Amino acid sequence: MSSIETFAGSITVADLERDPFPIYRRLRDEAPVCHVPAVELTLVTRWEDVHHVARHPELFTADVGSSPLTRTLGQNMLTVDGGEQRRIRATIDPAMRPRVVAGYAPAVIEPIAERHLAAIEPDGGGELMATYCEPVSVLALGSVMGLGDADADTLRRWFGALALGGSNFESDPGKQAIADAASAEVDDRVLPLLDRLEQEPDGSVLSDMLHTQPPDGERLSKPEVLANLKLILLGGMQEPGHALGIALWALLQHPEALAEVRAQPELLDGAVEEALRWHSPVGTQTRQVTERTEIAGVTLRPGTVIAAVLASANQDERHWQQPERFDIHRTGAHAAFGLGAHHCAGASLARHEVRLPLRLLLERLPRLRLDAEQPVELSGWEFRAPLALHARWD
Ligand code: HEM
Repeated sequence: MSSIETFAGSITVADLERDPFPIYRRLRDEAPVCHVPAVELTLVTRWEDVHHVARHPELFTADVGSSPLTRTLGQNMLTVDGGEQRRIRATIDPAMRPRVVAGYAPAVIEPIAERHLAAIEPDGGGELMATYCEPVSVLALGSVMGLGDADADTLRRWFGALALGGSNFESDPGKQAIADAASAEVDDRVLPLLDRLEQEPDGSVLSDMLHTQPPDGERLSKPEVLANLKLILLGGMQEPGHALGIALWALLQHPEALAEVRAQPELLDGAVEEALRWHSPVGTQTRQVTERTEIAGVTLRPGTVIAAVLASANQDERHWQQPERFDIHRTGAHAAFGLGAHHCAGASLARHEVRLPLRLLLERLPRLRLDAEQPVELSGWEFRAPLALHARWD
């Protein structure tokens, strides 16, 4: 066995969750297409190859038979291709267009962020993931989706449990049971709402999903609405909060960048993009090989499940200059919102959900800094975020 095969065989899920970046670096250099037994996936880690996977859905389908996402959520737009995916996406895309989002997002997000800021400001310090980043993210999307009466703790619990199932590549029954219970709870809670919306459309995204007639094909059935709502709960609720936490952590540990952003707030958007590149919150695009093909000289058999690792592509030194540096002036498109036909449907909304709460936080707390006594620990490889973000602002 070669030393890189021995290395790949020795990688554990815990290693990946703790810090996948040194692992990705070694794989990019020595085995850019490499089977990792612990997650039962072949990881594709270079920028060029990750793009190749996205450009060829006929070779690398999103319809992954063993997908933990399908197992947890049911068939959804992220696990089908072509016309079927477009049919589902057509029901949410109109509400997610950049100009449309710019029209409604500030009015939804700012009051929620302001309310949470007002609650934490007098404390002089605290943990920001649970008190700010995640609740602002879930409540903003809850409101856009039309789940306005679900409280932040319930929404956070749902996405945490669904994410456990969605990233359960190792098929851990304990994780799956938690995810399945949350999935059943979403059904119980949302089905009566769908029954009402069927009679009384209310302009929310959930209502649009039920009523929009896609150009090609049938309207979505209620089970389809539920599966795709769960996808949005998982990705859309969790990720902007995680991205906000990552952007905040990145700025707080780079005081010179933070000072620049404070002095020139127009640099904030670039800082957010760089944070998304630097520590991408969504790690991979999982796909299944449809026919015998090759990537980087490695032959892949039909049925092989691959993970095109966005977080690694975003760190590939073959594409980026000094990728390990957090540089808010960096230019060039990153891959954090995915590539190809499944590029994030909520990217525009997500950017508002990160930028606005970050801007307000920096404006309101001029002495904001990391709490030196409680170092930040990040975790996750499929979904990565600070476990906690302790800061002081007295
Ligand atoms: C910073 C926050 C976010 C990040 C980093 C992110 C990242 C991603 C990535 C990488 C994908 C592609 C996955 C793949 O191809 O396997 C994706 C897809 C998707 N995202 Fe996001 N996302 C974010 C926020 C959101 C929000 C707010 C929504 C709410 C609507 C959303 C909804 C979706 C949907 C529905 C898909 C599936 C699209 C399709 O299959 O056509 N995401 N996202």
